[in-house]
Amino acid sequence: MKIFLRILSFANNIGRRLAFFFLYSILGIVFGAFNIVLVIPMLKSLFDQGKKEATIPPIPGFSFSTDYLVTVFNHYYLTIIQNYGRLNSLLFVIALIVLTVVLANLFRYLERIMATKIRVDLVKNIRMEIFKKVSLLHIGYFNNERKGDLISRFTNDVMEVENAVMNSLKAVLKEPVTIVVYFFVLFSISPKLTLFTLLVLPLTGGVLAEIIKRLKKQAVASQESLGRIVNILDETFSGMRVVKAFNARNFLIDKIEKESSFYRKVNKSMSYKNELASPVSEILGVLIIAGIIFFGGNMVLSENSTLDAAVFLGFIAVFAQIIQPAKNFSNGITALQKGTASAKRIFEMIDSQPAIQNKPDATVLKTFVNEIEFKNVSFAYDTDLVLKNINLTIKKGKTVALVGPSGGGKSTLADLVPRFYDPTQGEVLLDGKSLKDYDIESLRRQMGVVTQESILFNDTIFNNIAFGNPSISEETVVQAAKIANAHDFIMQTENGYQTLIGERGSKLSGGQRQRLSIARAVLKNPPILILDEATSALDSESEKLVQEALYNLMKNRTSLVIAHRLSTIQHADEIIVVQQGEIAERGTHEDLNNRNGLYKKLVEIQKTS
Ligand SMILES: Nc1ncnc2c1ncn2[C@@H]1O[C@H](COP(=O)(O)OP(=O)(O)O)[C@@H](O)[C@H]1O
Ligand SMILES: [Mg+2]
Repeated sequence: MKIFLRILSFANNIGRRLAFFFLYSILGIVFGAFNIVLVIPMLKSLFDQGKKEATIPPIPGFSFSTDYLVTVFNHYYLTIIQNYGRLNSLLFVIALIVLTVVLANLFRYLERIMATKIRVDLVKNIRMEIFKKVSLLHIGYFNNERKGDLISRFTNDVMEVENAVMNSLKAVLKEPVTIVVYFFVLFSISPKLTLFTLLVLPLTGGVLAEIIKRLKKQAVASQESLGRIVNILDETFSGMRVVKAFNARNFLIDKIEKESSFYRKVNKSMSYKNELASPVSEILGVLIIAGIIFFGGNMVLSENSTLDAAVFLGFIAVFAQIIQPAKNFSNGITALQKGTASAKRIFEMIDSQPAIQNKPDATVLKTFVNEIEFKNVSFAYDTDLVLKNINLTIKKGKTVALVGPSGGGKSTLADLVPRFYDPTQGEVLLDGKSLKDYDIESLRRQMGVVTQESILFNDTIFNNIAFGNPSISEETVVQAAKIANAHDFIMQTENGYQTLIGERGSKLSGGQRQRLSIARAVLKNPPILILDEATSALDSESEKLVQEALYNLMKNRTSLVIAHRLSTIQHADEIIVVQQGEIAERGTHEDLNNRNGLYKKLVEIQKTS
């Protein structure tokens, strides 16, 4: 229930809207009940039970009760019968029925409109909240295992919540009101019969509650499975080239077959229970009606009849109206169970605290003045240390290169500088102050990152370069592209800077993608540069172009360069050889080359290959 209230709190003006929702619901229900109760005088008119000799009751002083309404109605009703005859009284009743039906439907419509307003706002706001919160989470949160799950939460879970809200507004909030109002009416028609029905009703409720209880756990399993399916799809579609090249289609078909079968199993079992709720409640409802007819029939037919036949028929007509809302209510509860399972998954995501956060009194970093220093830094993703006691200084304006066997921890080390992760032990300092003391955005504003895989978006070349800064002038973008050796190939594309590059830049070659990434970094013009194997994915032709672009980019900046090809970092001010999380060697190219160490070995290997 708390979860449900939290979902509702995402809608705008929820208090006012719920108030109106209830107001319209109640008016709709009351007028609905009215037109059914009017069956009684209608039957009386037809069966000539409006006894002509009856005295017309005077209109009493107003009070908010059924007695008042019944007396007022009887006043006019009997007046019409006595003055104008039965046919006219029938007309009067019919006119009232039509009027109340129109009013009842008008209010029902208004109630649905209110429900829709609540629902659409809520879905939009939840989506926005998820996106805002999740994009704030630290990098480690987005490993592949979670991507499909995250997408599934954003789409399917939100859909389930939407469904639940729609259903529950109608079924769980409104129908109990309907049922209470109708029972109130039943009670004023015949207290004795009503008490009888109240005795048998809990039976129905109990059976349904049991079915519902079993649904919830499966709902969670079902949504999780869907997340894994989305994940497989995402991987397959983005890796289609490899899938085909390795003839891995059957392998993937198997994988998705397994997951889909699981999903099928859970949903089948869930649906079996779900579908059971409706027939069971209907059969129970009919059993109750049968009981009432027998019990009430006894009252009508007994020698000193205590119940009027027309009233009895009216009672049954009203009671029959309760069955549908009761059914809706039980369906609504099952939808709600599925919805809350989804809502839990959504809130779990919204509530997860980013591991990397601004301190409340974080300093805004205006300019980078002096140096970046790693002080006794160790780091572990989980339990094993990936970096061990690293000490290292990058002075302003200098270039420090990281080299070494893959898996050694170079990328991890570089990720600590823009604070994608925090060190497990030790500190990274910028101008003598821990990175944790700076406002994260201001820190990252000082840095540009170019990695091996260029991250591009399905947009124009212009927007990919101007990334996150759409108001920038065309001139500046062109200038950046020129520095990045990208201008020439951009001009050769179909629409120049307005060319769409496809998902993840799939319409471009690797070298072209890389040069766009570099142009993006040039445009940002950051004092600190982090290059993580920016050229290693390229063929030697485009590598030359990209390398040139990188040299242009590195001019007058402080750079941390991770290089696969050692020839590209020979001029670095310091070369650090990282192996198994530790600094194995350090020095200039000359120093290291004269030593007979790991660096020399690596250089030799590359020469021969
Ligand atoms: N997101 C991650 N979660 C857990 N372990 C990781 C993650 N990223 C890298 N590692 C591990 O950390 C070690 C160092 O990786 P990395 O810094 O990428 O090395 P390099 O860039 O030198 O090739 C490797 O053993 C790798 O398996
Ligand atoms: Mg790496």
